[in-house]
Amino acid sequence: MCGIVGYTGFQDAYNIVINGLRRLEYRGYDSAGIVLENVNDKLSVEKTKGKVDDLVDISEQLKGIAKTGMGHTRWATHGVPSDRNSHPHLSNNGKIAIIHNGIIENYDTIKTMLKEKGFTFKSETDTEVLVNLIQYFMDINPETEFPTAVRYALNEVYGAYAITVMHEDYPGVLVVGRLGSPLAIGIGEKEYFIASDASPFVEFTKEAIYLEEGHMATISLEKGVDIRTINDNSKIEAEIQELKLSLEQIEKGGYEHFMLKEIFEQPKSVHDTMRGRLIVDEGVIKMAGIWDHVEKFKNANRIIIIACGTSWHAGLIGEYLIEEYARIPVEVEYASEFRYRNPIITDKDVVIAISQSGETADTMAALKLAKEKGAFIYGICNVVDSSIARITDAGSYTHAGPEIGVASTKAFTAQLTILSLIALKLGNHNGNLGNAEFMRLISELDAIPKKIEEVLNTTHELTQNIAKDFISATNFLYLGRGYNYPAALEGALKLKEISYIHAEGYPAAEMKHGPIALIDENMPIVIIAPKKGHYDKIVSNVQEIKARKGKIIAVVNKGDTQVSAMADYVIEIPETSECFSPIVASVPLQLLAYYIAVYRGANVDQPRNLAKSVTVE
Ligand code: M6R
Repeated sequence: MCGIVGYTGFQDAYNIVINGLRRLEYRGYDSAGIVLENVNDKLSVEKTKGKVDDLVDISEQLKGIAKTGMGHTRWATHGVPSDRNSHPHLSNNGKIAIIHNGIIENYDTIKTMLKEKGFTFKSETDTEVLVNLIQYFMDINPETEFPTAVRYALNEVYGAYAITVMHEDYPGVLVVGRLGSPLAIGIGEKEYFIASDASPFVEFTKEAIYLEEGHMATISLEKGVDIRTINDNSKIEAEIQELKLSLEQIEKGGYEHFMLKEIFEQPKSVHDTMRGRLIVDEGVIKMAGIWDHVEKFKNANRIIIIACGTSWHAGLIGEYLIEEYARIPVEVEYASEFRYRNPIITDKDVVIAISQSGETADTMAALKLAKEKGAFIYGICNVVDSSIARITDAGSYTHAGPEIGVASTKAFTAQLTILSLIALKLGNHNGNLGNAEFMRLISELDAIPKKIEEVLNTTHELTQNIAKDFISATNFLYLGRGYNYPAALEGALKLKEISYIHAEGYPAAEMKHGPIALIDENMPIVIIAPKKGHYDKIVSNVQEIKARKGKIIAVVNKGDTQVSAMADYVIEIPETSECFSPIVASVPLQLLAYYIAVYRGANVDQPRNLAKSVTVE
């Protein structure tokens, strides 16, 4: 959601904070702000509606003035994006500054109490309430130290937060706290970094502490990192981890956008997802997470897959895979719906949570509920050590590498790869998938990275040309059957989120039950029609569209004749087993969405109103 950066050390805090905010801008980008300790140990604040570049325009005079500071890039929750609502927020006495990611749910009650005590508020945010609550605790007992006041305040609020707070009278000190939103502390030589993820400090240190849920820390050069529990102030020994992230991974590497870079990384990311897990020569899938708990899966009444957005689409394909090969019943749920509909869950259920970021609040809340009810929780996350990865009983990382473009691409194909491995592994283990078919399928899966590479080579220019014809489209339909129905949903989501063109995905056969009414010569319809998978039925659907003069963009296998003959545009992809076809078919759909958005002048990596990880429910 929002991005947090903090620094104390010997370098220019302005540069560290601004560069860090640029790396975190994918998390939220409707406003940005910075606060630095100036030469007199006073706080200098600049903030504005807009992007980090807009912040730089108004804050360059702060360069070189401080060795301690913090900054924020925002995705609005309480209060519209505006200069006033941007972070940092200052307390009424102007001495305390706060930046915050998350939501304080009881802010209104606290605000009323503080107003009664004479506090005033400049913004509509929940965050300003928290910083004034800290001041309040210091006001009512002047003996109260700043970190203690932060702790008192955090004990009064509920919701989700990652915060960093500075106090004018405590130079060089940063106080941080976390509940439900991530926060990493980078440990350098005579310097400390704070950030929502490690990307802002990766070139300075490889050592980091990931603050745990319900913990806070006071950080200063003098005293190091003092971690405490928020509820009872117990001291916690810091667990320092070595970062695996490299600078190269978080830069654009010559591509115009992260999204394009990430689309092109897919041969490697899918390969990395399988690396060390799929050993074709030995005819095995080695997945410790599954193998150590295989009996749980084998004896499960059912598997419930919980996710949001693109990850939910991956979950739908997971359902097809697991039911087809492992013959275990699967239900796929939107995390946000599951959480609030009093679902029936027992200790015989296995819940699989899929999340690229591992921070999605809806998914997290649903998992907590399932856990409380005794289900076994398995996580499929991309971000190592993320909140969801931490609360699961077991899991598999997708190893797709950092995904920075807000539109998920390589994380999706990596999720499909993991789900394929799980389904084949379970199916072979429980005897539903015989050895010969297992061997055939794992060889095919092993060949997928090469097929993605081929698709990138053959469809990159083609999708650009097709995109040019649809710059002014206002609606799109995406159709597919079987495994490619969720791929159609995902294709539509990609287009709508980055180009702002309205797009709907449907199972192709459902078209005649309603959406067909929309079809005329102005309606572009993307139809995924590989040879394996209800091809004859799809041919009939294409005929129905043709008869109504819809503009058909068909994704077909190489050498296809029937659908191609009726289509206005043909995108060829190599043949695979039906179960893996969404991995390959998604790639040209990602490119098509990308180029339509680029030609419409949209901000592809940071689409309006969105954020990369949605840490509010
Ligand atoms: O990090 P997660 O996978 O949990 O995120 C879930 C959705 O917010 C995410 O997939 C979203 O739909 C993307 N913007 C899709 O491109």
